[in-house]
Amino acid sequence: MKRILLAALLALPLLGGCTKKTNEIVIGEYDSLTGSDATFGLSTNKGVRLAFDEINAAGGIKGKKLALITLDDQGKNEEAASATTRLITQNNVTAIIGGVASGRSKAAAPIAQSHKVPFVSPASTNPDVTKIGDYVFRVCFIDPFQGFVMAKFANETLKMKKVAVLRDVKNDYSVGLADVFVAEFKKRGGEIVADLSYQAGDIDFKAQLTQIRSKNPEGIYVPGYYTEVGLIAQQARQLGLKVPLMGGDGWDSDKLSEIGKEAINGSYYSNHYTVESTDPAVTEFIKKFKTKYNETPDALAALGYDAARILAAALERAPEINGKAIRDELAKTKDFVGVTGKISLNENRDAVKSAVVVQVEGNNRKYITTVTP
Ligand code: PHE
Repeated sequence: MKRILLAALLALPLLGGCTKKTNEIVIGEYDSLTGSDATFGLSTNKGVRLAFDEINAAGGIKGKKLALITLDDQGKNEEAASATTRLITQNNVTAIIGGVASGRSKAAAPIAQSHKVPFVSPASTNPDVTKIGDYVFRVCFIDPFQGFVMAKFANETLKMKKVAVLRDVKNDYSVGLADVFVAEFKKRGGEIVADLSYQAGDIDFKAQLTQIRSKNPEGIYVPGYYTEVGLIAQQARQLGLKVPLMGGDGWDSDKLSEIGKEAINGSYYSNHYTVESTDPAVTEFIKKFKTKYNETPDALAALGYDAARILAAALERAPEINGKAIRDELAKTKDFVGVTGKISLNENRDAVKSAVVVQVEGNNRKYITTVTP
């Protein structure tokens, strides 16, 4: 009788339910699945799922399947932090694929760091994110580079001398990127004729745009997220401001044109990849993504896919599945052939890779140029 009871107890962890299954590796993900930048999270999640499905279909990692638990942060910093705590303390995840927005990564990554759970951000570009600690990684370039790319483009390609800046002051990403752009554009002899601000959630930008109009800029740099950028484009045109807007990766969403309509056409932004690429890694990915989801992958889908595969490769190489061993392997990531380029992580756990500049044409993103670091 006693022996049977003992056997039953030992078998318990294998029964699943709320206990961890031993035949799978559980990875956590949190991101904005709702809220004003919901396409960020929804796209990233699609990229991650495509990668995990492929890896599992090919036998998984060390004979185990990858399981994914995704939580919605609703686009809020405090929700990103509590989702991360939940993933670690309740779901016992092995590693976390962090969210998109830099502000949310800055709220969530310290929790992963303190629990020594590897944290990989697909898309947070603010330099401070990986400074949080040695368990925090990203597979994208950083804003000092992205800001440089657009300042160079405005100055050399568009031959602009006078530019206005409109930044989201409540968004770490936007503020950081605006600062880099301003410094680089001035260094090149350009003039910043206005540097104004708004806050995510605002819907009326006419006061700032009227002030900008009075300074006659040749372009306006708006490093924000797509919802406000779409509205800003609309209102700029209504006020007779015809000059191109310029921005960063935060523009990348199908919703940008849904909100901005024709007003956003002709404007430019820096991004992580272009669907016009003929690189087989890109064309293969687009084909598989379209088959699974019946839509064209944006940059976040591509970065989610790359982040998931880089994490899986580190899991595969790690001698043991524990935080330290996975962290050490992530740090060794070198020349990984990703959809968003060849990815090597440097001593700061940041990816060093090229950026593209694209021009908005309805739902198309016309490829303009590539800039290498
Ligand atoms: N880089 C942005 C940030 O750090 C997030 C982002 C990445 C948005 C890629 C769109 C595309 O906040």
